[in-house]
Amino acid sequence: MQPPPADTASSASVAPGPVAVLEARGIVKRFGHVEALRGVDFEAHAGEVTALIGDNGAGKSTLVKILSGVYQATAGNILLDGCNVTFNSPSDAHALGIETVYQDLSVAPDLTPSANMFMGRELVLPGLLGKFGFLDNARMRRESAEAFQRLKVSLKDIDMPIASLSGGQRQSVAICRSIMWAKQVVFMDEPTAALGVVQTRRTLELVRRICDTGVAVVLISHNMRDVLEVADTIEVLRLGRRIARLRNNNISIQDLVGAMTGALDSTADEQVTA
Ligand SMILES: Nc1ncnc2c1ncn2[C@@H]1O[C@H](COP(=O)(O)OP(=O)(O)OP(=O)(O)O)[C@@H](O)[C@H]1O
Ligand SMILES: [Mg+2]
Repeated sequence: MQPPPADTASSASVAPGPVAVLEARGIVKRFGHVEALRGVDFEAHAGEVTALIGDNGAGKSTLVKILSGVYQATAGNILLDGCNVTFNSPSDAHALGIETVYQDLSVAPDLTPSANMFMGRELVLPGLLGKFGFLDNARMRRESAEAFQRLKVSLKDIDMPIASLSGGQRQSVAICRSIMWAKQVVFMDEPTAALGVVQTRRTLELVRRICDTGVAVVLISHNMRDVLEVADTIEVLRLGRRIARLRNNNISIQDLVGAMTGALDSTADEQVTA
């Protein structure tokens, strides 16, 4: 299937180069009278970190929830590899290789790290006549341990419930889980917000490592230093609209803050370049 023609009305969709692995066009989302998104465009490219920034309430989490099947858009289109897709639920997005690490931590505290890694996707040993199988706990434990090792996440005991880990370690498990399943896109909604200096550093290294495997990483962060450190491209949302798409090239924190707050509006057109 060929990608549909570009939306010429969207001055922000000017990125040259290959087709975006995931693209949003004109996404509108209303919650009753609240219009959280007012026609947002967005792109994520394979092997790149795209930072999604904006002030509180700009619409970042809402956009991510739409692009990962949690919410349905009121209007607009989502394209995967240039083809229109519809996500009716997170499992639709999962099936297409799209994973999310949520702002509000989403691990099950009573389960072990490996049970969390395979939550909802448990491996089952075939039972009698291929029916009534048992959970293949040994394999899930082994594959989880391999994933933790590969991503350099050290947990003191992978057989203890997640509740016994620190917040940062739980976040690492949530990130590893998403990476293990993501084939196309990983959204990370403020993955370092609750982390200390060392864990933040490790998480940012992890972000670069995932991206080097060819997956598109979308990082939401309020920490502009982190954004400038890891992002290839920066998308800026304000009041439910994308107001800039910037290549991370000679940009300062002041430029980003200016774009988020509107202080640089007089030069906004020049900023909407890739
Ligand atoms: N479930 C909901 N019901 C009603 N309004 C909502 C809902 N979710 C988000 N909103 C509203 O949509 C707007 C965008 O919220 P969103 O959470 O997407 O912002 P954000 O950019 O992620 O902010 P933050 O940086 O604080 O996480 C806000 O005005 C918020 O109040
Ligand atoms: Mg948010």
